[in-house]
Amino acid sequence: MARLGVNIDHIATLRQARGGAEPDPIAAAVLVELAGADGIVVHLREDRRHIKDRDLHLLREMLQTKLDLEMAPVEEIVKIALDVKPHMVTLVPERREELTTEGGLDVAGNREALRGTINLLHDAGIAVSLFIDSDLDQVKASHRIGADYIEIHTGRYVNAKLLKEQDAELEAIQQTAKMAYKVGMGVNAGHGLNYRNIKRLLPIHEIVEYNIGHSIISRAVMVGLQQAVREMKDLLNKG
Ligand code: PXP
Repeated sequence: MARLGVNIDHIATLRQARGGAEPDPIAAAVLVELAGADGIVVHLREDRRHIKDRDLHLLREMLQTKLDLEMAPVEEIVKIALDVKPHMVTLVPERREELTTEGGLDVAGNREALRGTINLLHDAGIAVSLFIDSDLDQVKASHRIGADYIEIHTGRYVNAKLLKEQDAELEAIQQTAKMAYKVGMGVNAGHGLNYRNIKRLLPIHEIVEYNIGHSIISRAVMVGLQQAVREMKDLLNKG
């Protein structure tokens, strides 16, 4: 049975829309854990567009499960990771203008720099995962530089329009997962997964953890909206 890491960045996105204190990702993390999630994932972006340093520090203190920090392999954020010491860091590429992480890391093309970052994180006792596209060369490079896990970017699969394309992407994900498992790395997957497209991935038993954000937070709004409206109506009715 695969584990579930819930990405709560979009709780912070909603908070930032008004620049206030609500909704608080820390309160959300408590509920996510109570509901049975196996870990919390946050992306501390260089532009701090959603998750803030304060969130990271508080999460590290209060989480009962596991904190997976997604981050770009850049000096400023690496320093923060070494200070906060999450259970795991997932290194991702980051571009300012993107809405979300659009592709995997080019590990094969950046081996030396990434090896240096992995070594620093390992010295602090932090496990390291590399977010890569389904590509065997990237798996080999990830293994060679000492990654503990890969996270397979599922974007190409979830965006595939035709069944044929989807099948090809699934096959590539499966091959990637199998090779990583064979060489002893843990295999995670994520990006754009929802309540429908996850189903075809479940038979790939090498994938031990799914990291899912947008679809879960979106569904939370939908399943919670009626109650929220009812509570306000009740208040008005009492007045
Ligand atoms: N895993 C990684 C490495 C990501 O960058 C993201 C997006 O922040 C996710 C998982 C979650 O993606 P989504 O929000 O589309 O479920």
